[in-house]
Amino acid sequence: MYLSLIVLAMATAPLLSAGPAAQTQESRMDRSTLRELAQRRGILIGAAVSTNAFGEARAAREQPYLDILARQFNILTPENAGKFANLAWAPGQYDWSTLDAMFDFAAKHDMKVRMHTGVWHMAVPKWIDPAVMTPAQIEQALKDHIFAVGKRYGDRMAYWDVVNEAIDDKTFGLRKTVWLEAIGPDYIAKAFRWAHQAAPKAKLVYNDYGIIAGGDKANAVLELVKQLKKQGVPVHAVGFQCHLLNGERHSRQTITDNLRRFSDLGVEVHITEMDVAIEKFEGDRAAQIQTQAQVYRTVLEAFLATPGATVFQMWGFTDRHSWVNNFCKRPTEAALIYDRDYQPKPALGALMDALAGR
Ligand code: XIL
Repeated sequence: MYLSLIVLAMATAPLLSAGPAAQTQESRMDRSTLRELAQRRGILIGAAVSTNAFGEARAAREQPYLDILARQFNILTPENAGKFANLAWAPGQYDWSTLDAMFDFAAKHDMKVRMHTGVWHMAVPKWIDPAVMTPAQIEQALKDHIFAVGKRYGDRMAYWDVVNEAIDDKTFGLRKTVWLEAIGPDYIAKAFRWAHQAAPKAKLVYNDYGIIAGGDKANAVLELVKQLKKQGVPVHAVGFQCHLLNGERHSRQTITDNLRRFSDLGVEVHITEMDVAIEKFEGDRAAQIQTQAQVYRTVLEAFLATPGATVFQMWGFTDRHSWVNNFCKRPTEAALIYDRDYQPKPALGALMDALAGR
């Protein structure tokens, strides 16, 4: 028996002493998480956090949600909890409870926060009403709101989507919103300046959709950011939402060429809300899920090839909690990287491969 122990010891000794070096590169990578791989690339990888799922999970009814969130990601965005209408139920009356809990969760798990969103044409509180408020009152209400959020979380948010979706899809001019009507075209510059005063440590972002692959709208955003920079407005990053909901398949080169125009302006580039709906792809569901993995990979590779690209975020991580199911009116959509039972999909492996460069 002693003999066999000695033989065993001799057989295993080189392996043990060689430690991780004896493992193949691949097996080491396979045990990595997205956040570890991202950290090695010097980027942040994250997901939007659903208010409902977060609440359920904290009540221990949906534990995998928080486990995966903390294990895989090093940045998060409140999906809805940071929107104006969800915070300020009456003028100056705020319910911070959900946001506070998300910020605490992020701090506990060493995750950064991308705050979302300051000025948007949606999620406007009902009490912002041009029928009963003067333009000056509406401007003051927006200013107060930005200061309220900035003062409370300014030291804890890494990034803040200060202005969201300001460009119109058809005219490529400024979208007609309550803010444009009351404050005028300067509302964008003003919002960024207020945000910077309130939260000087946060990096401030302009965020929009439909701009990942160039085109008229992307050109309009590029021009907007160029003008803001020229005026000395504190805008530090551009967020490309990247909701690919209609079977879009852009090439890596197309995306990188577009993103690079932005980083050339001296702003960071973020992918902020990526999801890839599958039902418009060819083939059966298994083939669609594979195509989806390819699309995730292509966008991440294009992002990694762009200087100044710093944050890559998806609009959730599990098909169980994805806005796409409702938004596309396709209840069986599956746009994210885990399925409804929290099982990884090929897209998760594709993102890991892209981060690991294999
Ligand atoms: C969406 C949320 O995911 C939904 O739950 C909500 O009902 C509507 O808003 N662009 C954005 C996000 O900037 O805030 C939107 O989020 C999705 C599109």
